Amino acid sequence: MSHQTVIVLDFGGQYNQLIARRVRECGVYCEVKPYTTPLADLKAMQPIGFIFTGGPNSVYLPDSPQVDPAIFELGVPVLGICYGCQLMAHHLGGRVTAAQDDSAREYGKTETFYDTACKLFKDLPAQGISWMSHGDYMEKVPEGFALMAHSHACPNVAIADEARGFYGVQFHPEVNHTENGVRMIRNFLYEVCHATGDWTMEDYKRTAIAAIREKVGDGKVLLALSGGVDSSVCAALLAEAIGEQLTCVFVDHGLMRKNEGDEVEAAFAPWAMHFVRVDAEARFLAKLAGVTEPERKRKIIGEEFIRVFEEEAKKIGAVDFLAQGTIYPDVIESGSGKAGAAVIKSHHNVGGLPDYVDFKEIVEPLRLLFKDEVRQLGRELGLPEYLVTRQPFPGPGLAIRVIGDLTKAKLDTLRDADAIYREEIAAAGLAGDISQYFAVLTNTRSVGVMGDGRTYDYTLALRAVTTSDFMTADWARIPYEVLDRVSVRIVNEVPGINRIVYDITSKPPATVEWE
Ligand code: XMP
Repeated sequence: MSHQTVIVLDFGGQYNQLIARRVRECGVYCEVKPYTTPLADLKAMQPIGFIFTGGPNSVYLPDSPQVDPAIFELGVPVLGICYGCQLMAHHLGGRVTAAQDDSAREYGKTETFYDTACKLFKDLPAQGISWMSHGDYMEKVPEGFALMAHSHACPNVAIADEARGFYGVQFHPEVNHTENGVRMIRNFLYEVCHATGDWTMEDYKRTAIAAIREKVGDGKVLLALSGGVDSSVCAALLAEAIGEQLTCVFVDHGLMRKNEGDEVEAAFAPWAMHFVRVDAEARFLAKLAGVTEPERKRKIIGEEFIRVFEEEAKKIGAVDFLAQGTIYPDVIESGSGKAGAAVIKSHHNVGGLPDYVDFKEIVEPLRLLFKDEVRQLGRELGLPEYLVTRQPFPGPGLAIRVIGDLTKAKLDTLRDADAIYREEIAAAGLAGDISQYFAVLTNTRSVGVMGDGRTYDYTLALRAVTTSDFMTADWARIPYEVLDRVSVRIVNEVPGINRIVYDITSKPPATVEWE
């Protein structure tokens, strides 16, 4: 089945996969190709449009990325973003120079005025915030192009030659900060490229399955399943594609939330793959006995996890592929996305390959997807909603939510309290508004009174945060009535807890987790 295709030509910008994802969001199939791809190959894909991305270079410098100018003769519309806009201007007779003063160099949110007669801005407000990040300036606009948007500092924020279908914007329509940015991309696709919207997640699933089958052939694949969203969707996709050739090893360290292990196992029952659940609770608890220092807990859990996985891998023997649920944000954060993109920070999911597993190659079928696309794919594969919408959960699990010394009894207490908290948040309809919420069993005991008797039990802390990236976070303003219900239920239903506190610190100065 063939689809209308848009090619995102990659010049090394930070947001290139985000552009691709926006195009997919608009229901149009899209591929990101390096700018070095020969024109003949691009032509063979029969694209209905090109999007030239941003990039860190300056078009007028000798070694800057260029395109074959014949691309402008194909009769295919082009949307140039930032560097892509300057590149188009440069090739079509305009002139781009370094901004001489701050007035022409723009970074961040910028008040922008649009000509709504331009197809790109059709049916959109004539004024709004756009997000800029450029130090170069289009001094001369190419022949045939008209100015379509301006800011206070810059007369040519957007240019267009509507007859040829060429559009250029200095700002980034793909980022959330640009108001109506996605609608501008949609206008380019539907008004200019005449897209019909023939692309869905179901198609993505089908294409991904075909690609996995082709890559894996009749080889064996091994995946460490954590039960988190990414590894679960990765497992389901592989299971759908290659069935029994896949073995998933699910290490149950006994530090998961209430019923979580059983839920994960049940979710994968429909597939014919080999599902190995290793009950390692006793091993982990034995190793952790008496350990109170948070980093030590993490280290022990990490090491023990590898040891257990290694033992299982040995039983399976050599495999052809090791699968990983790496998703696109992991890839960009570790700087391995595309040539030219700067390294922001290294990420724990990428690069740390286990050398004790005998495998030839890695498969990462979610590598190009963003988190919400991964969730959508999970739904498409038939995974249950509770798995697909699961909030982030740290690898060391509840071990870092029982403060100090860890015992099975304390873990069970925390599990019961945490389950009530989650139930009430869901019942109040708040689950979608809070990024992460959980209970923490502190090691503080206090005096209480229950019935006519004195109690001397543990204090439980409730944590809930809102954040977009977990680097900073704010505490969630949960309504008092909801907190009250949670508190009353926990002290009544969970023995060993007689006091509940709500954590009202943001990150920084606190962190999301307590340990
Ligand atoms: P912090 O506590 O650092 O948490 O503000 C930020 C996010 O990271 C998660 N987290 C971890 N995830 N291993 C993980 O896989 C860990 O050791 C770990 N520590 C914190 C935390 O749940 C939050 O989502």
